[in-house]
Amino acid sequence: MPNEGARKPGEKLKQGRIAPANAEWIAEAGQMIRSGALVAFPTETVYGLGADATNGEAVARVFEAKGRPAFNPLIVHVLGLEQALIIGEFSPLARRLTEAFWPGPLTIVVPRTAKSDVSDLVSAGLPTVALRSPDHPVARALLAAAQRPLAAPSANRSGHVSATHAEHVAADLGDKAALILDAGPTSHGLESAVVSLVGETPVLLRPGAVTVEAIEVALGERLARETEASSTRPASPGQLLSHYAPRAALRLNAYEWGPNEAVLAFGGVAEKPARVFINLSPSGDLVEAAANLFAALRMLDASGAPTIAATPIPKHGLGEAINDRLKRAAAPRD
Ligand code: TXA
Ligand code: MG
Repeated sequence: MPNEGARKPGEKLKQGRIAPANAEWIAEAGQMIRSGALVAFPTETVYGLGADATNGEAVARVFEAKGRPAFNPLIVHVLGLEQALIIGEFSPLARRLTEAFWPGPLTIVVPRTAKSDVSDLVSAGLPTVALRSPDHPVARALLAAAQRPLAAPSANRSGHVSATHAEHVAADLGDKAALILDAGPTSHGLESAVVSLVGETPVLLRPGAVTVEAIEVALGERLARETEASSTRPASPGQLLSHYAPRAALRLNAYEWGPNEAVLAFGGVAEKPARVFINLSPSGDLVEAAANLFAALRMLDASGAPTIAATPIPKHGLGEAINDRLKRAAAPRD
């Protein structure tokens, strides 16, 4: 870490929002995370754009900042196994992999625990969660300072290459991050490998900084590739997303509804008799609506209503991602 001498938080930053990753700035960054702000930080792979994973609105802001067209699920960063066990169900294979590679550039996808307090939006409504314990001293110090699991995708705009320098983060995300902790270039420069341990066979979802060979040695078995497995189970997030749907049929752009229907409303829509009525954001705030979306769909579905009527949601900003998810959930299924 650079020795910044007498520099204190609140004094002039190196450039824009870039701050040297020293103890004072990391402490400040931890406070920012706890208050719901986004902080970009270095990991051993690439820079991440971090948010308190338990704060739905902070997580929604991550999607907004990245300009993700859909809610691609995010990796939750933890200090280690103890914190991970609160969030995910660990099979013996999951334990074996984390013993071999944590802390380090391996992400595992496991079922979420019932007691997990991580926002539904992190997993894009999936019953699973991606977990990784990073091996970078600054990432670990930030996790310790924030005392929260950190939801953090790579700190680049959606579709761009991942950022390996603080300056790249600033160029891509500008003022979307409240602070960018700079510890110089990242060492791997390649994202973590992602392995799903949700089904019977472990599946490689994304090759990355830990090699397939090393993972197979630790597992003691072959790793199925996403393509081999996809005929029997939906492995890729994209496929999983299109498979995610409430039991109830979903009716989009509804202006009227019957008393037996469940209603997903937005903005100033007037409440009329319905089986259940949930307004994602009475004030018309898309960040708040995104944070509430998946939990609301679950609740409406749990009401047992045959249909969910969704009132129109604006298409700008996070509205695009919300509409994308609703469209998928409304798509005809077999
Ligand atoms: O090295 C890394 O992994 C970096 C640093 C910041 O940790 N993070 C990163 O995050 O690359 P991101 O969001 O750019 O990529 C996360 C990957 C995506 O391919 C996503 O689809 C997958 O992990 N993923 C996340 N949650 C998942 C889930 N529940 N099921 C399946 N795939 C998931
Ligand atoms: Mg990425």
